[in-house]
Amino acid sequence: MRAVVLTGFGGLKTVKILKKPEPTLNEGELLIRVKACGLNFQDLMVRQGAIDAPPKCPFILGFECAGEVEQVGEGVEGFSIGDKVVALPEFKAWAELVAVPSKYVFKMPPGMTPLQAAAMTMNYTVAYILLFEMAGLSQGKSLLVHSAGGGVGQAVVQLARTVPDVTVFGVCSKGKHEALLASAVPIDHLLERGNDYSSEVRKVRPEGVDIVLDCLCGEECNRGYSLLKPMGKYILYGSSNVVTGETKSFFSAARSWWQVDKVSPIKLFDDNKTLSGFNLRHLMYQQGETEFVRGAVEKIFALYKDGKIKPVTDSTWALEDVAEAMQKMHDRKNIGKIVLDPGMEPKPKPATPAKGKDKKKQSSEEKKEEEKKDVAAAAATATDEKKTDEEKKDEKKEEALTNGDSAGESADSKDKEDDKASS
Ligand SMILES: NC(=O)c1ccc[n+]([C@@H]2O[C@H](COP(=O)([O-])OP(=O)(O)OC[C@H]3O[C@@H](n4cnc5c(N)ncnc54)[C@H](OP(=O)(O)O)[C@@H]3O)[C@@H](O)[C@H]2O)c1
Repeated sequence: MRAVVLTGFGGLKTVKILKKPEPTLNEGELLIRVKACGLNFQDLMVRQGAIDAPPKCPFILGFECAGEVEQVGEGVEGFSIGDKVVALPEFKAWAELVAVPSKYVFKMPPGMTPLQAAAMTMNYTVAYILLFEMAGLSQGKSLLVHSAGGGVGQAVVQLARTVPDVTVFGVCSKGKHEALLASAVPIDHLLERGNDYSSEVRKVRPEGVDIVLDCLCGEECNRGYSLLKPMGKYILYGSSNVVTGETKSFFSAARSWWQVDKVSPIKLFDDNKTLSGFNLRHLMYQQGETEFVRGAVEKIFALYKDGKIKPVTDSTWALEDVAEAMQKMHDRKNIGKIVLDPGMEPKPKPATPAKGKDKKKQSSEEKKEEEKKDVAAAAATATDEKKTDEEKKDEKKEEALTNGDSAGESADSKDKEDDKASS
């Protein structure tokens, strides 16, 4: 089967499409034929090795996929072959087939397509838990959300709209404002990332807001806390600010940690404020709260069935184009969710001449050879030259289909510039 494999922590070129053996089914697992996969910001952090306790490379990436049950393992109840399902496994989701413990699998509601399921399950479940289980959103309240145009951001906006009279302040890149203002579910006050958004909020709500949802961390923690009204709730659920380029930056991780004020419970007591945190990955895979998560998934699927929410998909990509899809997210260009479709044809890639060679001076033999090569083979060859011994050993039994594309190269150089700037 084809799978998106991380061969080493780092930039886009470490992500490869390889042929892997089909998974065998263990007790309690379901084998899913994957039709769509969700790309989450967390996947960029995993690729960089910027999460706690990542697995050893190589491994199959991905935390979210949707498709059809192909086999039911021993001891699994409530699922049958042919069921349309969406799954949130701990890695391995980005492959044509995946074996997933049934506790991480959810039946899709009628009418939902795998592409929609992969576009909404993770984002809306997180947004639902943040708003309704943690922040206690109710009529008339105000909230501020960062990355408002992204996957979780758009889910927060839609879910907030299911409650009457809620005021939403959304912070995001300026380039998304026009599209978001024209969207079917507009944000009340769109604010520009990097600007003094706190003053903008104060102009509208001098007293501050009831809820701050922060997925950036670093200095936004202090700003968010200051913006809270008495009885307000601040929730940290991400640390996007640690991503400053294509590869992991220890400097930005340290800066992000250093910038956060350490607040004592006594200050919270005096200020009448609540600070909290949410991490779905830890909740499901380390703390075992899968039934709690199942409850939230059922709530969002019910809202979907009632037509109250609708997933926002930015774009859909072939597995082979995953590097370009990741680059789009790094570039802050996505509005809503980026989805991978294993059945989709990859984009044709332009064949590039070897570096330093003048085309006119190429021998006719070289030219003929070049014509024979298809784009995917050319990309795979380029990557082969850079493989470590360990990767080569690991891939002996696997067939490399393609690798990260030219987007990787451009990002590489961009990243190097970023690194220079930060040092
Ligand atoms: N706690 C949990 O369980 C959980 C689960 C899922 C997601 N999350 C978090 O929620 C946030 C959103 O996740 P998502 O999957 O929906 O992704 P997303 O919002 O679609 O992520 C892409 C967007 O993030 C913004 N961004 C902020 N910092 C960035 C950076 N350093 N590099 C590139 N883009 C950056 C950009 O939008 P703007 O430039 O417009 O801001 C970009 O378009 C992430 O922080 C993620 O880690 C947490």
